[in-house]
Amino acid sequence: RFAPVILAGGSGTRFWPRSRRSHAKQVLALDGERTMIQQTVDRLLPVASAGDVWVITNDLLKEEIVHQLPAVVCEHILSEPAARNTAPACALAAFLLERTEPETVLGIFPSDHVVKDGKRFAEIVKAGVKLASSGEKIVVLGVSATKAETGYGYIEYGNVVEKVNGIDVRRVKRFTEKPHKALAEAFVVSGNYAWNSGMFLWSVKTLVGAIREHSPSIAVQMEKIAAAYGKPEFEQVFAEVYPLCENISIDYAVLEPRSAKGEEASEIYCLPGDFCWNDLGCWSALHEHVADCGPEDLAKKNIFDKTNQACIDIDSHGNYIYAPGKAVALVGVNDLVVVETEDALLITTRERSQDVGKVVAELKQAG
Ligand code: GDD
Ligand code: MG
Repeated sequence: RFAPVILAGGSGTRFWPRSRRSHAKQVLALDGERTMIQQTVDRLLPVASAGDVWVITNDLLKEEIVHQLPAVVCEHILSEPAARNTAPACALAAFLLERTEPETVLGIFPSDHVVKDGKRFAEIVKAGVKLASSGEKIVVLGVSATKAETGYGYIEYGNVVEKVNGIDVRRVKRFTEKPHKALAEAFVVSGNYAWNSGMFLWSVKTLVGAIREHSPSIAVQMEKIAAAYGKPEFEQVFAEVYPLCENISIDYAVLEPRSAKGEEASEIYCLPGDFCWNDLGCWSALHEHVADCGPEDLAKKNIFDKTNQACIDIDSHGNYIYAPGKAVALVGVNDLVVVETEDALLITTRERSQDVGKVVAELKQAG
């Protein structure tokens, strides 16, 4: 059995002003008709049945997610009493299933990424499920690292040890979460590293075991929550206990310390994430994705919304404009990002769109 667990509690502040706390990136349709979380479920359905999908989110987003995912069982859409980052969210699903289905393979999937090659994605996940169901393996999907991004985890490749469904399986030598710039540069130059896509596959018992070993304080809280599961006091116990968990990502909590045990002992394996993955980190990444071209051609293309009444561009290139329903005219401007919503307007450049998260921080401070 394969149960995908979709993590949907992040806030996606770099997509302000479209992304808001109650309407975060994962519930937005940024690149077409389907929202990020709908696309996440759509691409898993060739491999998993909708009844086995779980979503871990928060109170602000739950109702919208229930509405957007009618095929997913309501009881499987859990709302955290407090955001504690991804380690407790991953642990929650595993501990709830431990008593009844320890052999089930859990797949952890972020809810806010895009994948262009859905067919390849399904093949890789299928292979990952097969691999994770034999023994106590941790399977990560790694994307070839092409630039020194500091916002990603890095996987150092070990040897190819076997093939599953014709796909190479590599051991992982070392997992390094969010290295500083110089280290990231050295990793990329060496050519021996992949980015962590944030997608993992492991059996329920493997994940529970890993949490017990590397994050015993989280395990203690999870035991209490799991003991109350299915009982009348569950909601109260969950609300009281979950916020006590350490606030830490699964990458820092489990992957890094586990990989430090060494290539053989850690039992971490990597499958190629060669399905045209993009974590859509900011507006310029979305621009690149929607334009469907490399950075050079991007400088020549303007992207408008299809609801724009008219789009006029005179001597203007490389702009991303979102102003639904408006007539938009560009005259002699290049490389801008302009995003208009009912109550806000963002004007920045493609180059600086990484910094939009700072706007949200400032607005918060200003109250
Ligand atoms: N339920 C829940 N609760 N979900 C959360 C929480 C939380 O407290 N915090 C984050 N998430 C969700 C986000 O919505 C996202 O889908 C996913 O978990 C990953 O969280 P991010 O906050 O986006 O992580 P990151 O981008 O900094 O780093 C991770 O992803 C990178 C790839 O995009 C790491 O796994 C990196 O190693 C990886 O390279
Ligand atoms: Mg992310």
